[in-house]
Amino acid sequence: MNRFRRLRKTQALRDLVAETRLSVKELIYPMFVIEGEDIKEPIPSMPGVFRWSLDRMDEILSEVAASGISGILLFGIPGTKDAVGSSAYDPDGIVQRVIRQIKAKYPNLIVIADICLCEYTDHGHCGLIGEDHATILNDETLPLLTKMAVTCVQAGADMVAPSDMMDGDVAAIRAGLDAAGFESTPIMGYSAKYASAYYGPFRDAAGSAPCFVDRRSYQMDTRNGKEGIREVENDIEMGADIVMVKPALAFLDVLKEVSEMTDYPIACYNVSGEYAMVKAASANGWIDERRIVTENLTAMKRAGASIIITYHALDVAQWLKEEQA
Ligand code: PBG
Ligand code: ZN
Repeated sequence: MNRFRRLRKTQALRDLVAETRLSVKELIYPMFVIEGEDIKEPIPSMPGVFRWSLDRMDEILSEVAASGISGILLFGIPGTKDAVGSSAYDPDGIVQRVIRQIKAKYPNLIVIADICLCEYTDHGHCGLIGEDHATILNDETLPLLTKMAVTCVQAGADMVAPSDMMDGDVAAIRAGLDAAGFESTPIMGYSAKYASAYYGPFRDAAGSAPCFVDRRSYQMDTRNGKEGIREVENDIEMGADIVMVKPALAFLDVLKEVSEMTDYPIACYNVSGEYAMVKAASANGWIDERRIVTENLTAMKRAGASIIITYHALDVAQWLKEEQA
């Protein structure tokens, strides 16, 4: 009785019938850029990931460009923060300057600007805060996000990705980009973004942990799957060109459902906490990093993602190259 085993006999046969294949072109590498000089600062909870200053970024960008990865997702860490996140939408802010430099040297790399205020506000929230120090001022935040998006695209960004989870963000940014003459710049919405403990290491990296209350009044409740579908539908109605589910691994059910419901390109974000767990376990010799990462990313793809944002991107690109050789 070899009914199912016939096609599992050899690697060549298994490769022939594989339903899911990883490809370097579907990968996006997130990067942290920091104000200052001569900085390549390790992030302790994210081994192998660094904060880069503008003058040293080439060390990593040349590697990214050679790897064949399609694009990078940029997070800026400014020199000064304030209550309204001013440096987020300063045409000469850290992210805007970085974008100009990258596009001048690597015109073919897709540069995506993450749009959010939390790395730029002194309170660490993604939007403006009311006088009560608890309420997020949704509508008042929208023009600032729009300004950030427009300045980033003016600097040369190929795409913007609002991660703020304010209602109406995609529509406001779409209108702002169109008005500024950027009708052809796509928006990747962080559509179903959950209030997740998996963002812990990122907040260390970006220094963006909120200093009072948490993000549960704007990010999604992790208990809700259907609500994720509603958020995706809403982002598409507002004009998102790519939708996203974030985090990836604990929300594969949402990813799968989104893929059954829409034909739009779907991204998933393999977030910092997912990365940190794999790195910690493999540093201890408890798991096989390469096989675990491959299995994780394959699961995301199988569930319906066509774009994977991951801190493992450079390693995966290398492994895929080795497989081809
Ligand atoms: C900022 C933002 C976060 C992430 C991406 N954009 C953090 C947050 O919302 O707290 C998380 C990325 C990661 O954990 O790797 N809005
Ligand atoms: Zn944010």
